[in-house]
This record gives sequence, C-alpha cells and structure tokens, in this order.
Amino acid sequence: MAEILSNQRLSRDFYLMETAFPNTTGMGQFYMLRAWKEYPILSRPISAFDAGPDKVSFLYKTVGTGTEIFSRLRPGDEITLQGPLGNTFPEVSGSIAMVGGGVGIAPFNLAARRIKAASPESRIDLYLGFSDEAVLVDQFSAAADTVTVNVGGFITDEIDPSRYDYVFTCGPEIMMKVLFEKCRASGCGDKLYVSMENRMACGIGACLVCSCRTVHGNRKACKDGPVFRAAEVFG
Ligand code: FES
Repeated sequence: MAEILSNQRLSRDFYLMETAFPNTTGMGQFYMLRAWKEYPILSRPISAFDAGPDKVSFLYKTVGTGTEIFSRLRPGDEITLQGPLGNTFPEVSGSIAMVGGGVGIAPFNLAARRIKAASPESRIDLYLGFSDEAVLVDQFSAAADTVTVNVGGFITDEIDPSRYDYVFTCGPEIMMKVLFEKCRASGCGDKLYVSMENRMACGIGACLVCSCRTVHGNRKACKDGPVFRAAEVFG
C-alpha cells in the first residue's frame, strides 16, 4: 500500500498523483494500481511519470471506472501499487527525440531526466501531442533541451527523425505506426523504440491479455515489453 501525497487535476481529464513508495523505477516502466476491493476487479496499468527513493508519481487520464476512482483519492488515502513492472527504454546517449501522444507522454519526463543525468551532453527533444489542452509543459521543459507541443493536430508532423540517433515513442498505436513509417522512409526505422499501451489484466506475464504480435511471434507487453523496437512490432 502507498499513501497518496497529492492528486492534482491538471485539465478536464488529466491528473497527476504523487504517492509515497520506496522504490526506483526504470525509464518506461509501469505499475499496476488499484484503489478498490472488488469492482471494477482489475488493477490499472499506469506508467511512472517520476520516481525517487521515496516517491513515485503517475500522470493519468480519466477514461473509465478505475481511473474515475483514482481521481477521487485525496492526500492521506491509500492505493495498492504493484511494480515497477516491465522492461525499460534503452539507456542510450546522443541526440534523442521522445514523441508522446495523449497520456503516452507520461514516461518521457523520467526518461529525459535519467538520460540527462547519466549523459549531460546528450540532447533530448520532446514532442508532446494533445487532443485539446496541453499539461505539464513547464515540467517537461525542465527535463529536456526543447519541447514542441501540438494541440489538436498531428505531433508526428513536427519531427524530422533523420536528425536523431534514437527516437522513443508512446501513445496511440496509429500515431506510433505513422512515426515508424516516417522513420522507415528516411532510412532509420531501426532507431525507433515504441512503448505499447496494451490492455492488461495481471501485469506479470500470466494471463496473455496484453499479447502483441511481433516479427518474432506473440509477445507479452507487460513482461517482454512494454518497450520494443518498432521494427519488431510494425515491421
Ligand atoms: Fe497478463 Fe500481460 S497482462 S500477461
């Protein structure tokens, strides 16, 4: 169990929840969260937005019963956290673009901070796409060299992937596919890593709910991922 330290509404449906939890999370990892005993039964997979020795925070969007329950939690309430789970984005250095759409922006705060801490000479450009209202732009700006925001359009229009050594992406599958095609067209499909936001039930590789098809056969997004080389998933 973790205590809720804050649970701030950022926009119509985005929230940032900070919890007291003694753990260190890798870039791109997620937790299974629940704040109920029975209904709606399954825990919800949420990416870590930030993490330190005593805290883990989560950026989430209210999209159904479970996340609506999260949005009503107050400081001092408790939540069950299972994690950190899954693999991580590769710990690379150089010029790196991180492209997030919707709540898929969440892992890139931690990823940008970790890479900058490990290799301050690395250049990190963040590309954040929102359907209606941008959130946390100041916080992302503090983590990266540049931040490009697109509201209501296509964030993939903003990036020239050929400028980068690596590109990381997380968000709607259609957005990630478009980015993969853009990378492939410029001869750099192999530099793109995607984080798959599949539906999950167990979060630990036991139920197959999160299966995704790859060139190597079916893989579990919760255990083999959520981070894959894009060419494995879309190639
Ligand atoms: Fe159960 Fe991935 S969520 S195997």
